[in-house]
Amino acid sequence: MAKKDKIFIFDTTLRDGEQSPGASMSLEEKIQISRVFDDLGVDIIEAGFPIASPGDFEAVSAISKVLKKSIPCGLARHLKKDIDRCYEALKHASRFRIHTFISTSPLHMKHKLNMTTEQVYDSIKEHVTYARNFTDDVEWSCEDGTRTDMDYMCKTVELAIKSGANTINIPDTVGYTVPSEFTKIIETILNKVPNIDKAILSTHCHNDLGLAVANSLAGLQAGARQIECTINGIGERAGNAALEEVVMAIRTRNDLMPYETGINTKLLSKASKLVSNATGFPVQFNKAIVGKNAFAHESGIHQDGMLKNRNTYEIMTPESVGVKQTSLVMGKHSGRHAFKDKLISLGYADLTDDIIENAFGKFKVLADKKKHVYDEDITALVDDSLVLDNKANNLVLKSLKVFAGTGEPQRAEMTLDVNGQIKSSSETGDGPVDAIFKCIKSLYPHDVNLQLYQVHAVTEGTDAQATVSVRIEENGKTTVGQAADTDTLVASANAYIAALNKMILKREKTAPMMEQQEEKMRGI
Ligand code: KIV
Ligand code: ZN
Repeated sequence: MAKKDKIFIFDTTLRDGEQSPGASMSLEEKIQISRVFDDLGVDIIEAGFPIASPGDFEAVSAISKVLKKSIPCGLARHLKKDIDRCYEALKHASRFRIHTFISTSPLHMKHKLNMTTEQVYDSIKEHVTYARNFTDDVEWSCEDGTRTDMDYMCKTVELAIKSGANTINIPDTVGYTVPSEFTKIIETILNKVPNIDKAILSTHCHNDLGLAVANSLAGLQAGARQIECTINGIGERAGNAALEEVVMAIRTRNDLMPYETGINTKLLSKASKLVSNATGFPVQFNKAIVGKNAFAHESGIHQDGMLKNRNTYEIMTPESVGVKQTSLVMGKHSGRHAFKDKLISLGYADLTDDIIENAFGKFKVLADKKKHVYDEDITALVDDSLVLDNKANNLVLKSLKVFAGTGEPQRAEMTLDVNGQIKSSSETGDGPVDAIFKCIKSLYPHDVNLQLYQVHAVTEGTDAQATVSVRIEENGKTTVGQAADTDTLVASANAYIAALNKMILKREKTAPMMEQQEEKMRGI
């Protein structure tokens, strides 16, 4: 059998994905995500844009130290200081990639860069050559590639390769192209650039017209061999091509796309949940591959067909993407051992004893309150223990009482550990959640904007645990906190406190001078 072409999966969840408004992730979350991406089989992980902020630098640096198989990559504009910073962040890895880019479309060159075509051309030679001083793995991107004149693009690609780039990425920066046009762009580059055989051609498609995955696959079929994508399709504006969709399309329609990726598809669901939790961006129910309903069959005709033969309405199995049928597994008589085994089967192999003990305690409480304990419940309470276990937390909820109902203003009474000091307060509010958040504010005075407050049930039933996500903003920085509990109000308090703890950590880590630089750099 002929060997299938390998498609390199370049994940940019931690860079382009984090550029989604409000999707910032903490260092710990980024490290946790990159470890899962490593296990998932992602070939290249774009871990951040090191010059953009101290936080980005630290994340790229930390990630470059923990990856086992995936190649870490950092982004750099055509500026020597960007490339230097990128190298500084990546240098701990035995292999790493520097990804440098400049716009090549008439619109961007004139209005954004204020540079002529000649100046951009010269800049490519200078900066790709410069990046090659640090690594033999250099990727070059022509930003706004799909609105670039094709003759000019071919000249720039040829020069980038001559200067040392071995991956050439063609971004559809504004999500403007359509599959037939993108096919022509990739084919033209392959046919007209004389040294193209010395580089891998890559796609980077945005989803403004909902075509990012279709365009990426068209690019592959035309000869591209790397796809840049993100988990859950997060990214600037409408996002990027979704990794899970690209990979499952190649796998499911291998008759039409006889390629292979190194992705362990059984970890797709786990990666999706992790990214959703870290960003606070819920996955839409009908999202392909990883949505809650992606494998649900509601209509009688479909259910009947499924019972007769699953192939009637199922083009891939839920198991192939790591979705298990909801199982009723544990009860109040289950012991520590069974609980530990369960955690391993759910993918939590390397938890500390403290976290397992904390989660087990919560499981026992939950099993007493709730008739059925599902896998999703256990996942939610372990994730919760991971957040609350953080020894660096400045604020810890000690107790909460809420008086709600008709007739009188809602009131909350709260006791909080604030940096080791126990403080209590009672506040009324427009509803119980408002009263709770006011208590937190009076016990730990702060001034943040609440950008998102979201509740969803982990499983079905009125006794289900609620997961609450809270996103707060302070001086342009955002953090997301999440918590789960059968009591929605307790989960609300803990989610807000988790977001505040992260914000406190962020404040401590960001030097004021670098903060200003961050704001400037983000405006690329
Ligand atoms: O969309 C884009 O053009 C980018 C580049 C930096 C590759 O993200
Ligand atoms: Zn992009």
